[in-house]
Order: sequence, then C-alpha cells, then structure tokens
Amino acid sequence: MEQIKLSEKVSVSRLVHGVWRLADWQLNTSETTKLIAACLEMGIDTFDHADIYGDYSCERLFGDALAEEKSLSQRLKIISKCGIKLLSDKYPDTYIKHYDTSYQHILFSVENSLRHLRRDHLDVLLIHRPDPYMNPEEVAEAFTELRQSGKVLEFGVSNFLTDQFDLLQSYLDFPLVTNQIEISALHVEHFQNGVINQCMKERISPMAWSPLAGGKYFEEKAKGSAKLKVTVGRLAAKYQTSEDQILYAWLYAHPAKIIPIVGSGKLSRIQVAVDANQIKLSRQEWFEIWTAAVGHEVP
Ligand SMILES: NC(=O)c1ccc[n+]([C@@H]2O[C@H](COP(=O)([O-])OP(=O)(O)OC[C@H]3O[C@@H](n4cnc5c(N)ncnc54)[C@H](OP(=O)(O)O)[C@@H]3O)[C@@H](O)[C@H]2O)c1
Repeated sequence: MEQIKLSEKVSVSRLVHGVWRLADWQLNTSETTKLIAACLEMGIDTFDHADIYGDYSCERLFGDALAEEKSLSQRLKIISKCGIKLLSDKYPDTYIKHYDTSYQHILFSVENSLRHLRRDHLDVLLIHRPDPYMNPEEVAEAFTELRQSGKVLEFGVSNFLTDQFDLLQSYLDFPLVTNQIEISALHVEHFQNGVINQCMKERISPMAWSPLAGGKYFEEKAKGSAKLKVTVGRLAAKYQTSEDQILYAWLYAHPAKIIPIVGSGKLSRIQVAVDANQIKLSRQEWFEIWTAAVGHEVP
C-alpha cells in the first residue's frame, strides 16, 4: 500500500485503521493481536487512537495485544490524541466534560498513552478538538518539549477550522502535519469551508474520520441520504462492487490525498476499504456523488 509522507520523519499508510470502537468489538487479547497483524498484512501500518477512546481503555487493550506479539510494535505507527476530559470513574475529579490543552495535561496524557500502548514514542499527536480556552503558547511549549525528548515525532490537530489551525501554527517552530476532520459523502462541509483547501495549501493530507458517516449511511432513514444512496448504488452496480467501496473510492479520488480512517473491526470490511483505492472514479462520477451529496447540481 502507498505511504503518505507527513514529514521527513513520519509516513503513514494511505488507509489508517481507527480503534475508537475497539472496546465495543469485545475481542480478547489474542484476537486483537490477530486484527493488528491482519491490518499489517493488508498494508495498513498506521492506527488511530485517542486517550479517551473506550472510556480511556482502548490504548491499553491495544498495548496488551502488542505485548503478546512483540514484533508487531516496530512495524506500526501510532497516532493518538489528547485534549478532551470525559466524565469517567477513572477521573473522579472531573465533574464536567471539558477540554484541557494545558501544558500539564498534554504531557500527562502522552505519558499515559505511551505507558498503555507500551511504546517509547507516538508517531503523531493531535489536539482532539479546538479548545475555546486554549493558550497556544502552552500547547507550543508542550509540543516542543515532547518533540525534543523524542516522545512524539510530529504534531497535528483534529476538527480545527482554518483560523484555529493558523493560530496554533503561528506559535510553533515546526509545521503541523495533518488536520483530522469528518469527511464523507454525508459530511461535505470541509470541502466548502476552507479546511481541505488549507491542507492543500500547506501541502498536508487531511485525515477523514467516519468515512462512512459512522455507519449512518447504512441506516434506513439516514437524513439526506436517499438521493445519495441511489447514486452510490448505481455506481456500485457499474463497478460491480459494494456501496461502501464507492464511498471510499470517492474520498481516495480527491486531489487533497485524503487519508480515510476505516472504523470497522471486521476484516472483510477493512479489505473493502483497502481495495477501494483500485477503483478510479472519473471526474464526472465524482460529481455525480457530489451532486447527490449537496442535493443540487453545481451552479
Ligand atoms: N478525530 C475525531 O474527532 C474522530 C471522531 C470520530 C472518529 N475518529 C476516528 O475515525 C475512525 C473511524 O470512525 P468511524 O468508526 O465512525 O468510521 P466509519 O467507517 O464511518 O463507521 C464505522 C461504523 O460503520 C459500520 N459499518 C461499516 N461498514 C458497514 C456496512 N457495510 N454496513 C453496515 N455498517 C457498516 C461499522 O460497523 P462494524 O464495526 O460492524 O463493521 C461501524 O459501526 C475511528 O475509529 C477513530 O479512530 C476520529
């Protein structure tokens, strides 16, 4: 599988595997190890985490699986995130869900991630959500220290609008390497609000979370999806493939080199996402989906 170069130090696979739902999959440790190994076999060598996934449990489940098959850890790359504090039994002092992008919390969160994942570094650390209380000087101080110590190789953001990205970038001596945002045929706003354009301007690839709208695409009455389903269904028939594969192909086709994050724990569905990159939609086919997604033809 193609690698996307985020920087001189870090490249990621063209498709990333997301483990937000890992705790829901109810896998035991050796099943998780097998899932990771199978992703590597398919060419997916990059895994997307966050400190909070699975009520702060997913990094630990993943780290336990890596401990079972030690050779795996050296072959993969880890993205993780921090900045959200959940209401959780694990942190009884937190009485309101909030954001924390303080120097102390960023360092604390990275130490936990590394311990849980049983690794000595993260390949990429993202600030999970734009924080209205963010002090960019503190974030820059934490990032710089983590970079100098080698505990984190590169940094990015998630769900940041262009001004929020620019603000943080202006405090850093090194470039942010990605913005992880929601992109799918059911969520097209970042094509129009400047976020994807900004990634192209900065020569960085956006990462697309929930590329199938978190599974909502498949729900009977998914809002605004009736026309889309007809169009995607027609293209799926034309290419003799499944609708989810067409939705991935639509993301892969875009010149921003969008990196989809597949969110299924089922190998057959992960393989569909891998193989979708073989389908090369034409410009007009891309616009068929666009037109159905926005609900009208282009002006
Ligand atoms: N940065 C952020 O703020 C943020 C937010 C959300 C997610 N993320 C990242 O993005 C990753 C992917 O997000 P996601 O899990 O929402 O991705 P997704 O691929 O859009 O949705 C996955 C869901 O769709 C279901 N699904 C997939 N194919 C299906 C099919 N053919 N028919 C019916 N259901 C199907 C899956 O069920 P099965 O499990 O049964 O296959 C799963 O429940 C996450 O793991 C996380 O790493 C980041």
